[in-house]
Amino acid sequence: MKQLITTPIYYVNDVPHIGHAYTTIIADMLKKYKWLRGEEVFLLTGTDEHGQKIEQAAKAKGKSPKAYTDEISGQFRSLWDLMGIDYDYFIRTTDEPHKQAIVQVFERLCANGDVYLGEYEGDYCVSCESFFLNVDSGICPDCAGSKPLSKIKEESYFFALSKYEKRLLEWYASSEDVILPKYRKNEVVRFVESGLQDLSISRTSFEWGVALPKKKGAQKQHIAYVWLDALFNYMSALGLYQGSNAGSSELESSLDSSSLSVLGEKMPYWECATHIVGKDILRFHAVYWPAFLMSLGLPLPKHIYAHGWWMRDGQKMSKSLGNVVDPKAFTQAYGAEVLRYYLLRETPFGQDGDFSQKLLCERINSELANDLGNLLHRFLAMCAKYAPKRAGSCYVLDDKGVAEFVVEHYGDELKTQCSIIDEINSGLIESMQIKAYIEAIWKLLHCSNAMIAKYEPWNLFKNGKYMELNAILSFVGYTLLKVAHALYPIMPKTASTIACAFCQEISPASYIYYIKQGKIFHFSLEVRMMPPLFQKLDSMLVPEATLESNPTQKAQVDSSSTLEDGLANLVSIEDFSKLDIRVGEVLEAEPVPKSTKLLRLKIDLGESEPRVVLSGIAQYYAPQDLLNTQVCVIANLKPAKIMGHFSYGMILASKDDESLSLVRIDGKRKNGSRIS
Ligand code: ME8
Ligand code: MG
Repeated sequence: MKQLITTPIYYVNDVPHIGHAYTTIIADMLKKYKWLRGEEVFLLTGTDEHGQKIEQAAKAKGKSPKAYTDEISGQFRSLWDLMGIDYDYFIRTTDEPHKQAIVQVFERLCANGDVYLGEYEGDYCVSCESFFLNVDSGICPDCAGSKPLSKIKEESYFFALSKYEKRLLEWYASSEDVILPKYRKNEVVRFVESGLQDLSISRTSFEWGVALPKKKGAQKQHIAYVWLDALFNYMSALGLYQGSNAGSSELESSLDSSSLSVLGEKMPYWECATHIVGKDILRFHAVYWPAFLMSLGLPLPKHIYAHGWWMRDGQKMSKSLGNVVDPKAFTQAYGAEVLRYYLLRETPFGQDGDFSQKLLCERINSELANDLGNLLHRFLAMCAKYAPKRAGSCYVLDDKGVAEFVVEHYGDELKTQCSIIDEINSGLIESMQIKAYIEAIWKLLHCSNAMIAKYEPWNLFKNGKYMELNAILSFVGYTLLKVAHALYPIMPKTASTIACAFCQEISPASYIYYIKQGKIFHFSLEVRMMPPLFQKLDSMLVPEATLESNPTQKAQVDSSSTLEDGLANLVSIEDFSKLDIRVGEVLEAEPVPKSTKLLRLKIDLGESEPRVVLSGIAQYYAPQDLLNTQVCVIANLKPAKIMGHFSYGMILASKDDESLSLVRIDGKRKNGSRIS
C-alpha cells in the first residue's frame, strides 16, 4: 500500500535544533521500517516560511523575508542531508504551487459556506502563531518560557470550526490509533468536548504570507493564517488542487481514499497518511487540520503521533535560554547513527526526556561498543580462527546438521530467540513503542553474549567438539543477521555493515526471511572481517554549553556542604551559571505613563523579537540617550508585572548615594552574547 509519512514543516525563524532532528529521525525510522515490511512510502518534510514570526525574525537580522527564509530553509535541508534522512520531497510554503493550492483551499472553504468575515479581537502569540482569548497573565499559556502575548484587533475571516465538534469526536472514537499516545488523545478529546470556537484564518496587519482573494465586504487585503497555510503542505506537496483538475470541485466532493488519484498523481499516498509531530502542535493537527479536511470533503489522515520534548535542566530547549543542543555539531562529532540510537532509545515515545551528552557517551560505550560492536568483533575473530572452511577472503560455516544440533542442544536459547523475534514482530513500532523495540533487539544481543560466555567456543575447539563449535557460531551468526534486519530502521548504516560482514544486503525480501518468518539455518554462512563498529570514548566530544546538565540538583548538594563549612555566603559556580546574563541593544525606550522612575525598553537580545524590559532608571537616564547602546540583561528572570506592564528581564546597574550607572560592556559585542 502507498503510505505518506510527514514531519512538521519547521519554522525558519531560527536554525534547526535537536528537537527538530528528533522528529525527523522518527519519521525516517518509520519510513525504513515500513519499506522493509513491503510498503511504498513517501517521506515528506520541509519548512514553514510565512507569518509574522518569520517576518519579524528576518527584520531583526536586517534581511528580506525571502533572503532570510532561503538561508535557513537551506540549513534544514543540508542538516537532513548530513544526517542521511531519506526524504522524498522537501516542501517550502513559499513555493509557488503551494501558494496557489492555499488560494484554492480558501476558495473552496468559502464555497462550502464555512467561512465568514468578522473581526478578531483578543490575544495572539507570535511565537507559536496562535490565537488566545481571556488570558490574564499576558503570557502565552502554550509556549514554554515566557512568550508575551500581543493584543490584536483586526478584520479577519473565520472558519466555522464549531460546526465540526461532533464529527471530530466521532473520528477520535473511530479507531484506537488515530492519535497516539492515548493520554494525548484524551487531552484532545477533552479540549474538543469543552467546546470549539470558530477559528480566525486570516490576518490583516502584516504582509508576509499567501494573499487571499478579496470577498464581499472585506476592507483589507487578507493574508492566510500561517497554520492554514502550513497544514495544507501535507497535501499540496502531493499536488492538491494543482494541474488539470484544479477547478472541478463537484468531481471531488466527498472523495473516498480510492478515488484520490483524481486530485493528482501523487495523491494516492494520502490514502494512508501518518503525521509525526511534537506535543506542542498536536491541537493544530488533531483539531483544526481534520476539520478543514472535513469541510473540503477530503479523506482524513490515518495517524497522528505526538512525541514529547527534549529538555535541558527541566526546561524545554530554546534559543533564548541558551540550552539548545546543536544537531549538526553532534552529528559531526558522533555520527548520525549514534545520535539516532540515543534519541530513539533514551525516552519512551510521547514522554519528555532530558538530553545528556554524558548518557549518550555511556550508551555508546556499553550498548554500542560492548554489547553490539564487541559481539560482532569476537564472532568474526572466532570464525577466522575456528571456521572449518575458507573461500577467498571469506570464512564459511558449515550448515550440515546444524539446525538439528541447535534444536537438540541449545533448545532453551532457541526458544528464547523465537519469543524475542515474536516480540519484535508484535507491532511495537506500529504502536510507537520504539524504546521497547530497541530493547527487544538488545535482548537478542544479550542472549548471544551469554551463550558465548556459557559454552566457551575456544574450549570446544580445544576439546575437538567441532559440531558444537560450528553450531554455536552459526547460531550467533544468524542471530546477528536478525539483529541487523531489526536494527536497520534505527541504525541503517550499522545494520548494513553487519549484513555486509555476512556478504549480504538488507532488503524487504531478506527481512521476510529473517524477521517475518524468523527462519534459521537454511544455508551455510560466509563471513568476512570488518573493522570494529564503534570506538569507545574516554570523554565527551562536543564542548558542553555553559549550563550544567542538572544545575538545580548539584546546587543543592553544593550549598549544603558549603553551609557545613560555614561559608554560607558563597555561591557555587553552578549557582552562578543559572543566571543567564546577556548583552542587548536598546531599540526603543519610553517613559512609563504615571511613573517617575520607570522606563519601558525594547532590547534586542539576538532573539526573534525584542524583549520588553522595565527598568527603574528614568531619573538617571533620558530615553533617547539609551537608544542604540548596549546594556547587560538578566535574560532568564521570571516575568514580572510592574504598574500593569510586563517585564521580561532586568538590566544591570550600580547605584550609590549619589547616582546610578548602567553596567556596560567594554567594546561592542554581538546582541545576545552571554556574560559569564
Ligand atoms: O511548530 N523537543 O514549527 P517549529 C522535541 N511550523 N521536539 C521538538 C522540540 C523539543 N525541544 N522543539 C521542537 C512549528 N521540536 C510549525 C509546524 S506543521 C504543519 C507546522 C519539534 O519549528 C517537534 O516536532 O516550532 C515540534 O512539534 C516541532 O519541532 C515544532 O517545530
Ligand atoms: Mg515551535
